[in-house]
Amino acid sequence: MEPVKIGLLGMGTVGGGVVTVLTRNAREIERRAGRGLRIAHAAARQYNPDAIAGLDQIGRIGDDAFAVVDDPEIDIVVELIGGYSPARELVLRAIENGKHVVTANKALIARHGNEIFAAAREKGVVVAFEAAVAGGVPIIKALREGLAANHIEWIAGIINGTGNYILTEMRDKGRDFGDALAEAQALGYAEADPTFDVEGIDAAHKLTILGSLAFGIPLQFERTFTEGISKIEAQDVAYAGQLGYRIKHLGITRRSGRGIEMRVHPTLIPHRRLIANVDGVMNAVLVKGDAVGPTLYYGAGAGSLPTASAVVADLVDVARALTTDPNNRVPHLAFQPDELSDFPILSMDQVETAYYLRMQVLDQPGVMAQIAGILGEEGISIEAIQQKEPLEGETQVPLIMLTHRVLEGQMNQAIARIESLDSVTGAVVRIRMETLAG
Ligand code: HSE
Repeated sequence: MEPVKIGLLGMGTVGGGVVTVLTRNAREIERRAGRGLRIAHAAARQYNPDAIAGLDQIGRIGDDAFAVVDDPEIDIVVELIGGYSPARELVLRAIENGKHVVTANKALIARHGNEIFAAAREKGVVVAFEAAVAGGVPIIKALREGLAANHIEWIAGIINGTGNYILTEMRDKGRDFGDALAEAQALGYAEADPTFDVEGIDAAHKLTILGSLAFGIPLQFERTFTEGISKIEAQDVAYAGQLGYRIKHLGITRRSGRGIEMRVHPTLIPHRRLIANVDGVMNAVLVKGDAVGPTLYYGAGAGSLPTASAVVADLVDVARALTTDPNNRVPHLAFQPDELSDFPILSMDQVETAYYLRMQVLDQPGVMAQIAGILGEEGISIEAIQQKEPLEGETQVPLIMLTHRVLEGQMNQAIARIESLDSVTGAVVRIRMETLAG
């Protein structure tokens, strides 16, 4: 049988990995797909020929991505350019030309996925995006197919390798933030704009996709709450550790009776949870289904070959699906397109979670009672209180509190009242806390 002909857009970190994997594992892949997979036409503005094994296997290499999507010979276009534009235009044109698409572009899917999937349905083609979430970890396949029997209750994931690498290096080696980030960039983990990593935008793109796959709702990136790790202080990492917790940058989506939570933020989690021990650039996604219970998916969330592993797996899937009736393929968002629900995404005020609070207070009688009184009046139950030694040169003392679960709206009111007390200096540091109990 003729090999499937692939058009490759981009030969950077991931594109180079795809060329390498397709070349290195060509025979094994053919045994699985039933046909060979051959890159017939590639486009790249620049690439490092010394870093890519198998360049000689590519039929033609140019620099015009539109020439690839318009090439009549191509069956599947692999978009590895990243970003919103021209990736959106290229993918839509490939679909218009009747080609299947494989992409690793989470930003594109999170923001323009609804439009792209509608266009793909119209043309009867597949848009596959396993590499868009958690790099080499096959979490999309697990959610769409392996867990199809379940009512998904919640998902919590470490879905940005760069952020997890930085937090781990800071905790274990006392490295500073900029130094750890620079190394993640040099290793090819970080986004072109690394604020996407540290401010949680990249994780929010991925969480948006996970939430849609879990709950059968349209992609709504603009409704996903996003808070980064750039304000995490060393003292909070240390206090959390003393209390038996680790701070991880999590993407959390949960279904409650009122709607769906979609939030990315630093989170205290008990140190004994497996996911609390996922360190470095590794990713992990914890999925709670009503039938299966909690399941955990772990692996490299970024990097050349791990991400290429997911891209090539999609290519194998699409190659197998070439001859199937489009109506009988796995739906893009896991649920049949006419079965997507309009269940609302909750605002952060409506989200219920527990909290770690740290504040600088005067060390004098009655202060603790005043603060506890405010929390009590706002209906917030305290789980633990610790007063720490004053930091060097300071007259005030850090007060740490852990609370039980409460609506964020109530917590906002309590924090505003605490911050207005004369005995409290500066802002109250608040880090959300989850037990992630199965
Ligand atoms: N910048 C991303 C990360 C790459 O660090 O996880 C994979 O999406």
